[in-house]
Amino acid sequence: MAKFARLVVHGLAVASLARPSLALSGPFDVREATVDVVHSALLARLTTCREVISAFIARIEQFNPILNGVVSLNPDALSDADQMDGLIASGNMTGALFCIPVLLKDNYNAVGMNTTGGCLDLANNRPLVDAPTVKVLKGAGAIILGKTNLHEMALEGLTVSSLGGQTVNPYDLTRTPGGSSGGAGAAIAASFAVVGTGTDTVNSLRSPASAGSLFSFRPTRGLISRAGVIPVSYTQDVVGAFARNPQDLAVAMTVMASVGFDPRDNATALMPTEIMHTDYYRCLLGGSLKGLRLGLVDGFFDHTSSPETTPVDDIMAGMVSQLTAAGAEVVNITETIYNSAAISAALDVQVYEYRELLDTYLAGEDLSGEPRPKSFDELYRNGSGEFLVIPSQHAFVEAAFRSSTSNTSYFTAQRGIQNLTQALKATFARDKLDALIYPEQKNLVVTVGSQSQAGRNGILASLTGSPIVTVPAGFSSPTEDALLGVPVGMEILGQPWTECLLLNIARHVSELVPVRRMPAFANMTVETKVFDSVPVITPNSANIAPAYPVGVF
Ligand SMILES: *[C@@H]1O[C@H](CO)[C@@H](O)[C@H](O)[C@H]1NC(C)=O
Ligand SMILES: *[C@@H]1O[C@H](CO)[C@@H](O)[C@H](O)[C@H]1NC(C)=O
Ligand SMILES: *[C@@H]1O[C@H](CO)[C@@H](O)[C@H](O)[C@H]1NC(C)=O
Ligand SMILES: *[C@@H]1O[C@H](CO)[C@@H](O)[C@H](O)[C@H]1NC(C)=O
Ligand SMILES: *[C@@H]1O[C@H](CO)[C@@H](O)[C@H](O)[C@H]1NC(C)=O
Ligand SMILES: *[C@@H]1O[C@H](CO)[C@@H](O)[C@H](O)[C@H]1NC(C)=O
Ligand SMILES: *[C@@H]1O[C@H](CO)[C@@H](O)[C@H](O)[C@H]1NC(C)=O
Ligand SMILES: *[C@@H]1O[C@H](CO)[C@@H](O)[C@H](O)[C@H]1NC(C)=O
Repeated sequence: MAKFARLVVHGLAVASLARPSLALSGPFDVREATVDVVHSALLARLTTCREVISAFIARIEQFNPILNGVVSLNPDALSDADQMDGLIASGNMTGALFCIPVLLKDNYNAVGMNTTGGCLDLANNRPLVDAPTVKVLKGAGAIILGKTNLHEMALEGLTVSSLGGQTVNPYDLTRTPGGSSGGAGAAIAASFAVVGTGTDTVNSLRSPASAGSLFSFRPTRGLISRAGVIPVSYTQDVVGAFARNPQDLAVAMTVMASVGFDPRDNATALMPTEIMHTDYYRCLLGGSLKGLRLGLVDGFFDHTSSPETTPVDDIMAGMVSQLTAAGAEVVNITETIYNSAAISAALDVQVYEYRELLDTYLAGEDLSGEPRPKSFDELYRNGSGEFLVIPSQHAFVEAAFRSSTSNTSYFTAQRGIQNLTQALKATFARDKLDALIYPEQKNLVVTVGSQSQAGRNGILASLTGSPIVTVPAGFSSPTEDALLGVPVGMEILGQPWTECLLLNIARHVSELVPVRRMPAFANMTVETKVFDSVPVITPNSANIAPAYPVGVF
């Protein structure tokens, strides 16, 4: 019985959080399915793990040719599900993510699938060891369903790659899904799985959440080991997850953070002992918006009126009046240092750190497969030469060739980051704030073919290592291309190690402003299928906009 305790505790808690009720007849409907709904159905023997996983695969088969968010499926997903069914039969159903399908951004190493970073030159990159986060997900019972597209090497926010092509936004097929973790965002928005993982160097766990009406977390730097994940920046990278509700997000955070201290990522040594082994699900219980002090960052808005910016400003104004009506105090933060473009221009340090870290990753003994570049130089200079050469990416890689962490400007930038971190602490202290709030993006997510994902506000948390929970805030007005409108998300930024508070705020916001809806184009059920084996998914790399050439540097 003890082995069931964890699942049952969560099941009971859910009732009090007013979650969707379980359909009692007919095939199991995986649309918007939650961890608790899957577990309740399995416990009640209304379905099997193989049926659950098959139903998600059927949705991927049906809708992925349009969304192009998934680049590969795990050939072992169904046999893994059968193992779970065996455990249910023997009364050993245990683990917070038991039989929960998880899609991994394709920069996470997972045994049995290649880790491509969306780059054709890395198509054969075959890890021999799971990333520690993947290991704990599997240990908690998760079924790794497959890999999702990303902006190539996680370097921008459009989610287009030489290997995976262009992923599109499920709410408006003419727009990007944000990025760089846009494949995971689009896939979770369309109920291709229950949880998706991502990485975030500047915006990448938040932009796809904002554009996909999802919840996501960017943890405090050091909370979760980044080992076994293709790196960009020691200072700015974190790993995290997407879900369709705060409950599933909290479970994913608990499991991923259970890696604890990892000698392969020395930032995890910063983790205070008292927050180790936190059950983040419990953070959702109790609490209130009443009396919270939330700083609204005025510099993170574009107050000019236009069809792309006005919806964001209006949605945030509505959010502020709802929060105020619920008893929160919203404080207008007008310091001019909070200017995302200026902070990025002065302090972003990816270009200094990328080459050295990627060299270390590519030379790792935990990788196999041929042909495969074993250094940054081989990847970009003399591999097959098949990667994206979007002008911005081209300039970045060229600069990364010449730059290193011994540049004097790197030290100047690191001192500037210390100053910014200090200034942020001072803002929290002066105004006695619990959190900062602002839109992830000053404008709606950009259309396919745009040169960059302009207007995003991720840089403050990424440089200061601050935690964020992103929540759906609303939709712009419906149009022919966006039948429900385009989703807009809000970031909730906390002081380091305050994930528990941020999740609690997110849960209350999700109930105050319950805006999450499934995308209209994929809102129908898909006929249940019985798969003999996991089908092979081929990404549509032919759909890359002409503005994004693939070629040689
Ligand atoms: C299942 O549970 C039984 C009884 O608790 C135990 O003896 C058995 O080893 C478990 N099997 C697995 C595969 O964990
Ligand atoms: C932590 O690791 C990074 C990169 O792996 C390294 O550059 C840095 O010197 C290490 N820091 C400490 C304090 O050991
Ligand atoms: C915050 O203050 C600035 C400067 O006074 C003002 O322009 C802006 O409209 C205020 N923002 C909000 C959301 O109240
Ligand atoms: C994965 O990499 C191996 C080599 O390590 C290669 O043989 C295989 O074709 C690759 N798989 C895909 C789907 O590209
Ligand atoms: C790439 O170039 C370097 C030096 O120019 C050479 O040593 C290496 O063998 C080359 N690698 C490949 C895969 O061609
Ligand atoms: C780092 O230093 C090199 C050599 O002086 C220079 O070419 C490069 O532009 C510098 N990088 C940056 C980002 O300033
Ligand atoms: C950091 O702050 C100190 C003290 O205010 C200032 O002298 C210094 O110029 C700042 N450095 C950077 C890089 O912003
Ligand atoms: C699916 O979307 C269409 C178009 O917005 C809407 O008419 C329909 O009611 C939606 N169906 C469900 C099940 O939400």
